[in-house]
Amino acid sequence: MERWNSLYIYFISGTGNARVSSGWIKDEADKQGLNTVVQQIDRLQNIAIPLKSEKALIGFAFPTHGFNAAPIMIRFIAGFPRGLGREVFLLNTRAGMKLSKIFLPGVSGVALLLPAFILWLKGYKCIGFRPVDLPSNWIPLHPGLKKKVIESIFHRCEPIVRNFAVNILSGKKVYRGLLSIPLDLLISPIALAYYVGGRFFLSKTFIANNNCNNCGICIRECPTSSIRMVSGRPYWNLTCESCMRCLNYCPEKAIEAAHGMAVAFWIIFSAINTQLFLLLINSLNINPHIWWWKLLSQVIGIACMIIITAVLYRIMHHAMGFRPVRFLVRFTSLTTLPFWRRYSFLKNSRKSHISSGGQVATEVPCS
Ligand SMILES: Cc1cc2nc3c(=O)[nH]c(=O)nc-3n(C[C@H](O)[C@H](O)[C@H](O)COP(=O)(O)O)c2cc1C
Repeated sequence: MERWNSLYIYFISGTGNARVSSGWIKDEADKQGLNTVVQQIDRLQNIAIPLKSEKALIGFAFPTHGFNAAPIMIRFIAGFPRGLGREVFLLNTRAGMKLSKIFLPGVSGVALLLPAFILWLKGYKCIGFRPVDLPSNWIPLHPGLKKKVIESIFHRCEPIVRNFAVNILSGKKVYRGLLSIPLDLLISPIALAYYVGGRFFLSKTFIANNNCNNCGICIRECPTSSIRMVSGRPYWNLTCESCMRCLNYCPEKAIEAAHGMAVAFWIIFSAINTQLFLLLINSLNINPHIWWWKLLSQVIGIACMIIITAVLYRIMHHAMGFRPVRFLVRFTSLTTLPFWRRYSFLKNSRKSHISSGGQVATEVPCS
């Protein structure tokens, strides 16, 4: 008797890596005659969920963000119906790199552990998980990889993902990445710090330069609907998850990570925070070494960072109407450098022979 007759894959992808991985898995499931539904969770109004009577395997594919699963996927999994013993698998895409001939892996942190734990709490059985080191898309940190490097990373990863799919679909349990659990747990505080604070700061580092022609692609394509027009320029809300879709897909290369502006925000925020803490400690006569103050000061610090950067970003957005400010922001942004490439799987796959696997439910337009 067959174990499953259908496969449901739910994915979120900023720049296409998790999307293409889902396509490869679908390919393998199609070969085995499974009825496969692949859904991009941010694009569809109605998400198809397996019927209770269906013998379905469920998979989740998503990028790693700040040593954790992308927040939109964590929310999706948390809101997913209860498992009733159903089997699931997880695949996280990470920042793959290549140095000379050596492929360098990304770091998962709790990107697999946390979703697996939530799914377990919901009554699912996780029969496998795997990280896959596709090209890094973290463009504010480094220029996009060269086409040749991207191609060779894809050629390495495609069989890895297909093999993972074949093993899972044949009923084998695959837990890749277990060896790195000590390191993953060690960096879990950073994952937490990114989740509760860092991502809000990152979302306030994007600006649109003068090349922006208001085409609206970034607004339409944003998976979290976090971009809106304010005073004729795209404006990023705090709900932005820095998935890099806008920055990488903008046909005019008009979206920048404003490094100089981010440093200025950080200096101002640190100065305000130091003064605030001094004021609180002196006026309330607090011992700064006491445990509860150490904890509370972290919470206050993160809250202050979010509020202060949001206010400063708003001010900067309007100040960008002035030419000297625009010049300064552009001049201090690394992404404006001529060699600072962007990264998108779709753009690269069109220009090369990278296979995108089976058709997935929605297409992300690429100009
Ligand atoms: C904000 C941000 C945070 C990231 N954090 C990590 C990380 O902690 N570990 C890692 O290996 N890769 C990290 N990456 C890289 C992406 O996970 C990786 O490039 C992934 O393959 C992108 O998949 P996608 O194209 O489906 O969005 C990060 C990327 C971004 C934009």
